[in-house]
Parts: sequence; structure tokens; C-alpha cells
Amino acid sequence: MIQVFTGLELGIGYAGTGEINFIVLLNQCVNIDHIAVLREARKINDPNPLDALGICKLAGADQITIHLREDRRHIHDEDAKNVIKLSTLPVNLECSINKDIIDIVCKLKPSRATLVPENREEVTTEGGLDLKSNFEKIKKAVEKLHENEIEVSLFIDPTNDMLELSEQLQVEWVELHTGTFANVYAMLHGNLNNTHHSIKELELSRKELKKLLTKCRKEIKKAAILANKFNIKVAAGHGLNYQNVTKISRIKQIKELNIGQSIIARSVFTGLKDAIVDMKNLLKD
Ligand code: PXP
Repeated sequence: MIQVFTGLELGIGYAGTGEINFIVLLNQCVNIDHIAVLREARKINDPNPLDALGICKLAGADQITIHLREDRRHIHDEDAKNVIKLSTLPVNLECSINKDIIDIVCKLKPSRATLVPENREEVTTEGGLDLKSNFEKIKKAVEKLHENEIEVSLFIDPTNDMLELSEQLQVEWVELHTGTFANVYAMLHGNLNNTHHSIKELELSRKELKKLLTKCRKEIKKAAILANKFNIKVAAGHGLNYQNVTKISRIKQIKELNIGQSIIARSVFTGLKDAIVDMKNLLKD
């Protein structure tokens, strides 16, 4: 039997049935960038990501995530400053490894900074950080953040190489990129293939997609196990939604999920509180 509790540590528990059960304790983190996306579509001051903070907390979220992009396409500096100041939940600030951005993050002092790759042309973050090519730059960024008592997470692809380099960089967390898994899942089970956003390179037979999906999940699980061996805490995120999330949440080495798009998309129909509660309920499966 698997139970999910939020905000606590991984442990062994007694469920009152006479058996000792594993208890998987998973933090649910809500990425509220997409509220700012909607605001920026009109270039006005509504909706305001700040209005989401109390609702996220009441709905049971464990952490707020925002991404201060170099191009400021959604979250702006004043949003980041206000969210970090006013949130009663810890704030995970995603950012690039650009020195000017790291300096800003050190002044803002979120509880965690997640370093992500950034490319101006992309619609959203595409893939994990290349720790090999940018090792020295990332090392400097990690050291600077640590000097400022900000814990660090690296958004990485789930490979041995990236985990070994993460260990060398002495970070507290890695966030495993689940975007490829989510894309394959959407093409296989989500009807994405029948829309104008069909992913050309994944227009494969169902048999091939199934094989690929199994491979993606195995890689994520293997990476999470290796991270645990290195004493690095594991988060996961990108493209997780109400259809695919349990395939990832059942990997017991993963302690936290970062989810944005699917929760904010559902909230258009159900309201934000229900959208978060619906997701939390799925994590109990
Ligand atoms: N994790 C990271 C590092 C991200 O960049 C994003 C997207 O902002 C997410 C998680 C959330 O992804 P999604 O919006 O697809 O749930």
C-alpha cells in the first residue's frame, strides 16, 4: 500500500492495518508563471500572480515556483520580489546561470534557486542544463548562491553523467526533466498527434511510442535512485498533468513535483483551489 503525505520526510509508517507500509511523502509545488503569462497577454496588472499565493496554500500546495526569465516574458522583477516577500510557503525561483540573474537572485533570497537552461526562442524550457559544457560557470553560480544561504537545484536530464556532475557541484537538489516522457505520453495517450501541435519526431507507431515511454520512465527512475545514492534530493517536473502524473509520482525516490501549465489550465474551468486539490488527490494513488 502506498500513501502520500505532503511536506514531510520519507519514512516508514504504520497504517493501522497491522502491516508496516512505505509512506511516500511528496511535495506538491505549484508553478504560477502561467498567471503572469495571461497578464502579459494584455500588458495590464491582472491577473496578478500574488493573488494565487493564499489559494495555493489553502489548497495544500507545499511550495511556490516562479521563473524569472532573462527576457521577463512572464514573471518580472517586482513579481519575484513580492512573491518571495509575501508567500507563506517556501519559494523556488527558477533562473538561468547568467551572472546578472544570479546576482539578482542572491539579493531576492528565495529559499531555493533552480538553475535551468534558457534559450530566447523557446516556448518553454526545453531539456535539462548541460552541466558538462557549462561546468565552471555553474560551479560559480552554485557557490555564490550557497554563500547567500540559498539552496540549489539543477534542472537536468535523467542521465548518469548529469547526476555524477551534480554530485561534484555539491547541490542539495536535482530536478529531473520529465518533458520528453510527457511528450511521448501525450502522443500515445493524449490525442496530441491529431492536433496542429503534433510533435513531428514522435509521429511513431503505437508500439514504438509504448517502448519509448517505458524507456523514458526507466531512465527517470534510474536517475532518481542514483541521486539518492549521492544524497541529493530529487524533484521532477515539466509537462506533468492529470493524465501522466501518477507514472512519475509512484517513483518513491522522487520527493517533489513541480507542476504549472496543467494546473493553471484546469483552473480556468474549476478554479485554482480545486485544480490543486484534484492534483493532490491523484498523488495519493
Ligand atoms: N520545472 C521547470 C524547471 C520548468 O522550467 C517548468 C516550466 O516553467 C516546470 C517545472 C513546470 O512545467 P509545466 O508548466 O509543464 O508543468
